[in-house]
Amino acid sequence: MRKPLIAANWKMNKTVGEAEAFLRDFIPLITEVEDTDIVIAPPFTALSAVSSLLKGSPIQLSAQNMFYEEKGAYTGEIAPGMLTDLCCTHVLLGHSERRQYFRETDEILNKKVKAARAHGLTAIFCIGESLGEREAGETFAVLQRELEEGLKAIGPEGIVIAYEPIWAIGTGKTATTGQVQEAHRFIREKLSALYGNEASSMRILYGGSVTPENIDALMECADVDGALVGGASLKPDSFARLVRFRR
Ligand code: PGA
Repeated sequence: MRKPLIAANWKMNKTVGEAEAFLRDFIPLITEVEDTDIVIAPPFTALSAVSSLLKGSPIQLSAQNMFYEEKGAYTGEIAPGMLTDLCCTHVLLGHSERRQYFRETDEILNKKVKAARAHGLTAIFCIGESLGEREAGETFAVLQRELEEGLKAIGPEGIVIAYEPIWAIGTGKTATTGQVQEAHRFIREKLSALYGNEASSMRILYGGSVTPENIDALMECADVDGALVGGASLKPDSFARLVRFRR
């Protein structure tokens, strides 16, 4: 059985004070949740404060990005060891905003996933096609390339896949459950080709305009094991409803 995982990607939102206020309201709302993993990815500047507030809670901490080198002259970058030092357990890698605006390639991402694993961080590895690619019938080819290149020479442990069709991110356009299940099925097949039986225990999250209104239907899909949520994770009551999805 794959334990569901619901992850909040706050992107470039929330000051330290705002992050603390969120947790004060959010933690009491999820005290009875046991059968779902909850991960929050605040901006770097709030990691330390959020880490302190999460001590003793089951909520796990994620960064939204990291560099692959250990240390040195890389102005503005954050090393994997700096994240584990703050008790991060997860890191988002390959988000389409990183690929698109910051030119992160499959090759760079492969180095990042390797570095994350070397430090014991679980990589939430994001893949997904653009609208143009979908319309050109290239969805599966894109997913296959991103998986094969990004995960080259990396084992299945500590890898969570997030399928995020770029056209559904922040647009209010959720993929239909049919489109989601079709893509997740395909990803599971490719993971089986890479990892054999171990693929059946790997979690595949869906991301892209997930809301309290559509979470239950998405979680009904056989190969959807959770969600990576941007906009709807910014408010405590909305994120709590996502974590308490009903199947
Ligand atoms: P969204 O973002 O939920 O605001 O669409 C999802 C993501 O980019 O991870």
